[in-house]
Amino acid sequence: MVDINKIKRAISMTRTPFYLYDRASIKKAYYSLSGILPKSFRIYYAIKANPNAHIVSLLGRLGAGADVASMGELRIALKAGIRPSMISFTGPGKTEEELSFAIRNKIGSISVESEDEISLIEKLSTRARKVSSVVIRINPAFASETAGIRMGGGSQQFGIDEEAVPSALKLIKGCCHIDFAGVHMHTGSQILSEDTIAKNINYLLNFCLRLQDKEDIKLNMINFGGGLGIPYYYGQRPLDLKRLGSLIKDTFAKVQANKVFKKTTFIIEPGRFIVGQSGIYVTKVLYRKTSRGKAFLIVDGGMHQNMAAAGLLGEGLRRNRIIGTIFSGKKVSKKERVTVAGCLCTPLDILAHDIELPVCAPGDYLFITCSGAYGYSASPLGFLTHQMPPEVIL
Ligand code: LLP
Repeated sequence: MVDINKIKRAISMTRTPFYLYDRASIKKAYYSLSGILPKSFRIYYAIKANPNAHIVSLLGRLGAGADVASMGELRIALKAGIRPSMISFTGPGKTEEELSFAIRNKIGSISVESEDEISLIEKLSTRARKVSSVVIRINPAFASETAGIRMGGGSQQFGIDEEAVPSALKLIKGCCHIDFAGVHMHTGSQILSEDTIAKNINYLLNFCLRLQDKEDIKLNMINFGGGLGIPYYYGQRPLDLKRLGSLIKDTFAKVQANKVFKKTTFIIEPGRFIVGQSGIYVTKVLYRKTSRGKAFLIVDGGMHQNMAAAGLLGEGLRRNRIIGTIFSGKKVSKKERVTVAGCLCTPLDILAHDIELPVCAPGDYLFITCSGAYGYSASPLGFLTHQMPPEVIL
């Protein structure tokens, strides 16, 4: 949680609506995670969660690599000083231009997601006279049951179906300008079950053992993807990192002795977990009104800047996020039920529905917690041509 005095300080520094990120809480999240992982693990920050350059370079300084999903994100990672060898590039639709840029920069790995992509990388690497290191992103045969957002199992645009991996490997082995480096799997996001995360890790390790049994390959890199969740709502239980750490350690104790993994670097690439709780979105109350008995607060922000808060991003069920208040005048303790509507011309722009809040007046501020990930980066910022929200980092 971001400290209330820091929020007040930021309000005095900038205009609303704005995002506020807290370095201390990013560091805390990073170290709490790195602290539970075995030594052979690296954390690659998934830049898509929040591409703010200060955040990416902070994480680079802490020792993180980067998971990038576009040329723009790759440029941010390079500019932030992250070593190319610690960057992996994933995404089902990488363009020729993006792949050429990645190849020229000799990044650590490109996650291939189709056979067509393998052929294109071979062509572009030959042209650039480089040898590119690729990992195969697998689409597993199972879906992550408890993931808030599922990206694996069944038919998917993501990855190569696990049963088709031998055919993709054959293609790679026939390429002169591609080195096979390992495998990658990302099955979903917003996972709050330690068991599910450990199960996914176990599944990929077992897949690797079976693959190694049949194929003459070296597994230098195994990337378990991201997906660690955060508690967005009242009553939601945060991940128990201690328990997760001991589940992972148990799994690794079993495989560590296996010579297949002797030289393997294990990677996880979380985004949300690292930055989600470090950020808030602050908006000002412009008006209060009552419509046929229902109270509304109309604020200067909205779903164009924080689509996830409006429940419109990967949410099956719309729930109110945790909202705090800052009064411009005297603190009020009386509470009421209100609906918080943004400033857009669409009925979708509801930031909280029938929520209990202290009675607010125009000029007071509301802040939406857990907005550090997929807030700024995953919102339709161009809708209605408002000014971009400033981002303040403390
Ligand atoms: N790696 C890959 C390949 C990914 O596609 C993603 C996220 C991550 C890592 C990081 O996942 P995280 O640790 O942040 O869960 N706001 C969107 C989230 C989509 C997640 C996309 N992939 C939604 O709510 O739909």
